[in-house]
Amino acid sequence: MRIQTHFTPHEVDEIALREKTAVVIDVLRASTTVITALCNGAREVIPTPTVAAAAKITGHLAGDVTIRGGEQNGRIIEGFSIGNSPLEYAEERVRDRSIVYSTTDGSPLFLKAKYAKHMLVCAFVNISMVAEFLKKHADDVEILCAGNNGRFAIEDAVCAGMLVHLLGEEADAQLTLCDASIAAHALYRAHYRNLHRMLRQSEHGRFLEGLGYADDLRFCAGVDTVPGLPLLDDNMLRLRKDNDRRESPGTPASA
Ligand code: MLT
Repeated sequence: MRIQTHFTPHEVDEIALREKTAVVIDVLRASTTVITALCNGAREVIPTPTVAAAAKITGHLAGDVTIRGGEQNGRIIEGFSIGNSPLEYAEERVRDRSIVYSTTDGSPLFLKAKYAKHMLVCAFVNISMVAEFLKKHADDVEILCAGNNGRFAIEDAVCAGMLVHLLGEEADAQLTLCDASIAAHALYRAHYRNLHRMLRQSEHGRFLEGLGYADDLRFCAGVDTVPGLPLLDDNMLRLRKDNDRRESPGTPASA
């Protein structure tokens, strides 16, 4: 298995993702929030590249079934009904709802990976499920880190490193790693004992704590605490169903 890691979105060539499996990591907080919303019963999450696009998509739809969620500068967006704290996406708030979703780094990157054969959403909260899927279905993995306003974010790199670690666990695992994957693994080795402390020391973690989101950091540091696997399908994020036919090689999704 070849594992390529991209620490920032502008390193990613979307066309080159064709036929590959892309894993999008935005620990603070987009990936964690999407996984939580879908595991709490949201029908789908519709990522948008901008706030304006979210408003256009929902137009007069926003209300009972369709809600707008996301952040700008870490805070809820004016006119939206829910922010970007995973703790806000509780079952009673999101069950059976479609969430039109706009954030700074995560939602545009989910869409940038739309040409990939499979696009998975990953964070610490679902990392073992992602690793199991990749072991079964991928031989060419592209890990895309959302970063922080286009810049390197340590929390995403550590999460990427943990994924490399889990994929290399089996004795017969044959991994080919690019330098960024090797560096990510080294960062994971340096921080795996206390992921919460690593998040609190990170730039974006300090920023979010300053806004009053300290509980989000503790939640986002949980490992395998929200076991669900979101996949992008038709520009929408939905939980993978166990009998998902797309995984059997050569069977088209619509069969
Ligand atoms: C993002 O997508 O940029 C982040 O998730 C932002 C955040 O939640 O603070």
